[in-house]
Amino acid sequence: MNNTEKRYVRGLIIRQKEPNNLETPFDQLDSFLTPTELFYIRSHFPAPKLDAASYRLRIDGAVRNPFSLSYQELRAMPSETRVAVLECAGNSRVFLVPQVEGAQWELGAVGNAEWTGVPLAALLERAGIEKDACEIVLEGADQGTPKEKPVPPGTISYARSLPRDKANQREVLITYQMNGDDLPLDHGYPVRAIVPGHYGMASVKWLTRIHAVREPFQGYWQTSDYGYWDYPDGTPVRRALGEMKLKSEIARPVVYETLAPNQLYRVSGAAWTGESEVTEVAVSTDGGHTWGRAEFIDPAQRHAWRRWKFDWVTPRKPGQYTLLARAKDAEGGVQPENHDPNYGTYVINYPLPIEVFVAAETGGKY
Ligand code: MTE
Repeated sequence: MNNTEKRYVRGLIIRQKEPNNLETPFDQLDSFLTPTELFYIRSHFPAPKLDAASYRLRIDGAVRNPFSLSYQELRAMPSETRVAVLECAGNSRVFLVPQVEGAQWELGAVGNAEWTGVPLAALLERAGIEKDACEIVLEGADQGTPKEKPVPPGTISYARSLPRDKANQREVLITYQMNGDDLPLDHGYPVRAIVPGHYGMASVKWLTRIHAVREPFQGYWQTSDYGYWDYPDGTPVRRALGEMKLKSEIARPVVYETLAPNQLYRVSGAAWTGESEVTEVAVSTDGGHTWGRAEFIDPAQRHAWRRWKFDWVTPRKPGQYTLLARAKDAEGGVQPENHDPNYGTYVINYPLPIEVFVAAETGGKY
């Protein structure tokens, strides 16, 4: 069978039921935009059912003119449409050895979609953000008790902050559409933030409040969860995860796929990064000893992913082979060789080994 054809159709993979945590079958990467129904879902609490007719978005805190908007008022504002990758910071966690806690994401806690909404900067401008405000906190309507300790008593709502500079970039959108349709419930209906270039946790769903703060926000998902260790002066300090790291993933073949010997096989995948641009992808079919350059399918577009392909004539010798893909960016950055333990169970962006088998030659048609 020709491996460039769509081979089979399957839907999202369940990692957790209620709240919904569903993974994209990444081997079905067949389009620049991930179809909405195949876009991964990562939710900490059950999706709140907000009514668009009574929905309000409040903008307050360290601002001169706090105000609130209805859904219709938001939709009536000048809008922008942008393509952006969302990747969950825990994507590919299943590759870590020894196994770690948390949802066992494989390759599909990532997707590339087109988002339509109002630049956050336009709302902040209208609110008149105070000079001494340093961050903008985005708060969702979903509530519950998070898992990892320490947890505050009582329920809390999902909230994350953005540095003021990032919040003011025009690419940060307060969106109501995904791939040209209203947001589905699981992706934040009626309104969510999209923070291109940052890991998915920054793109707060079911957004109901935006507030400017004068001190760095120390909320649960900013400190207890979605944090990492940094060593500015040799002493580890806890910082919030933000910008996505350079990464490339192989979509096809899949782990433990059996391939015909001495045949052309099109290896394919996608690569993405945070604020830079992916400029090169190399593929190894021998566990990293030698590398060949992949060809891009998509042009470079800031904050979107680039699909790539690499034609491989499979070996005659039967056995197990390890495929790797490694991206470079416009700053000369390259994916690290190993997982950095300072990121704990997040930021798994080293080249992920995809082990495949090459079958023995049969003499006849494979
Ligand atoms: N926003 C709210 N309100 N609640 C959440 O649980 N999960 C975050 C982010 N926004 C979350 C949220 C995480 S961890 C990710 S990776 C993305 O949403 C996933 O977005 P998606 O479900 O649309 O793919």
